[in-house]
Amino acid sequence: MRHLKLLAFTLTAVSLVAQPSRSRPETGAAVPEKAVLKPGEIWPDDRGLHVQAHGGGIVRLGDTFYWFGEDRSQGLDRAKRYVSCYSSKDLAHWNFRNRVIQLADPENFGPGWVLERPKVFHNAKTKKFVMYMHIDGRTAEGGYKIARVGVATSDTVDGDYQYLRSFRPLGHESRDIGQFIDDDGSAYLIFEDRPFGFRIARLSDDYLSVEKEMSLIPAHMEGGAIVHYQGLYYAIGSALTGWAPNPNKYATAPSLEGPWSEFRDIAPPETKTYGSQSTMLVKIVGTKKTTVIFMGDIWKPGTQWDSRYLWMPLEIGDGKLWLPEPKPWTLDLTTGEAVVN
Ligand code: GAL
Repeated sequence: MRHLKLLAFTLTAVSLVAQPSRSRPETGAAVPEKAVLKPGEIWPDDRGLHVQAHGGGIVRLGDTFYWFGEDRSQGLDRAKRYVSCYSSKDLAHWNFRNRVIQLADPENFGPGWVLERPKVFHNAKTKKFVMYMHIDGRTAEGGYKIARVGVATSDTVDGDYQYLRSFRPLGHESRDIGQFIDDDGSAYLIFEDRPFGFRIARLSDDYLSVEKEMSLIPAHMEGGAIVHYQGLYYAIGSALTGWAPNPNKYATAPSLEGPWSEFRDIAPPETKTYGSQSTMLVKIVGTKKTTVIFMGDIWKPGTQWDSRYLWMPLEIGDGKLWLPEPKPWTLDLTTGEAVVN
């Protein structure tokens, strides 16, 4: 906290610089700096439409971030499920790339079937982009029992992903999923196994299946996300309250195999994570600082297309993690410094 305040104080002049124009050529030298991220507001894409990437995940390729998530635009075919992909060089200005999944019920899951929380992994060996998603039956009473992951692949990051199959990872129930890439490049799936808890498992070499369990944390948490920061693993998640927000929590461990600490609040519990639910943690390693960004969804169950995003730089270190009160903020991707305005 003190560090962010100090930065805010010393860099105020810089953060007041007007937002860079989107029309700058997209060369390496012209990466817009210090664009403002505004938690909870409408985030228009390059078409002026609110970004549809709910329950999403981010993949970074070189200097470009790709954001995948549930596309819940109004007026879509209710029998299909949609995932959209956006790209950005500054995490604030997002270009719509493609509706990478437009899928009619692929395995006879039934009316009201569910495709949620898509996460894309890039496999350097096979050069494929591999998408995991939560696949389920209708959420209404008695539903949500299929509890599988679906897998789809594409040869390009923003191509049309081909649905391959669904399965229960290592034979376990799987509802909300999260993704984690460790610093050595190994890829993990985080999944909520309702009878038992929060599982972390390594993907196979080709990423097409889930190979090895690293941990089962016996806590009922979903919206799972992990970051590896200064030698410690931090896992976050929310309680199981559907679309309603709740106090999200974190635990730490020296290794993905544990032992994991107790879960502790990431924000004042009465704020219910400022109305949001975790979906991803993104680490930005800069020349001066490493910033970890909390990415959460502010769900609007009755008007899903209007659900908002709460992204904030975390106060993190020495086994502690804290989500500051949401405010507009800027990020310098070169130095890694975040300034909360
Ligand atoms: C939440 C979950 C969302 C969605 C929702 C449906 O708990 O995190 O991804 O599944 O429930 O009620």
